[in-house]
Amino acid sequence: MNATDSTEHTRRDFLYVATATAGAVGAAGAIWPFIDQMRPDASTRALASIQVDVSAVEPGMSLTVKWRGQPVFIRNRTDEEIEAARQVPLEDLKDPIARNDNLPADAPATDIDRSAGEGKENWLVMIGICTHLGCVPLGQQGDFGGWFCPCHGSHYDTAGRVRKGPAPENMAVPAFEFISDTVVQIG
Ligand code: FES
Repeated sequence: MNATDSTEHTRRDFLYVATATAGAVGAAGAIWPFIDQMRPDASTRALASIQVDVSAVEPGMSLTVKWRGQPVFIRNRTDEEIEAARQVPLEDLKDPIARNDNLPADAPATDIDRSAGEGKENWLVMIGICTHLGCVPLGQQGDFGGWFCPCHGSHYDTAGRVRKGPAPENMAVPAFEFISDTVVQIG
């Protein structure tokens, strides 16, 4: 891959979806002198959550939203992607822990425990940051059909689990829940 390809793909892959948060950012310049005096402390800001309408995200599509300054990948996985992840024995995984904030810290990295759970196993929601040194991986690339981090060559599978390269952990799943059939709340 040359530098141009990489840049273009990153732009495409890194599509931000307009959210209430983004709207607030747009207005921030004009009202900054006012809100600067009322700036919430770090603990208040850390609680911020966002709601994302995923009704337009068909199987095989992803979107990336920004949450707490980080990209979050939301993918509606195809049956093939789910099946491929399910076929992988846990002992083949470099990181056998789910890294899912919605589950106990020692939950295993099974496909269902990486996903949104029973009945919503097609949905994968995870922080789109490589666990090596923090680059943003590219979707649907790499040796395992999941994500590929071009910085130092880490490959993730269709459940976002690291399978090859220097990344030590699976991509993190943040606290989230579907508050309706089509809206996911992150944080
Ligand atoms: S930051 Fe992803 S492989 Fe190094």
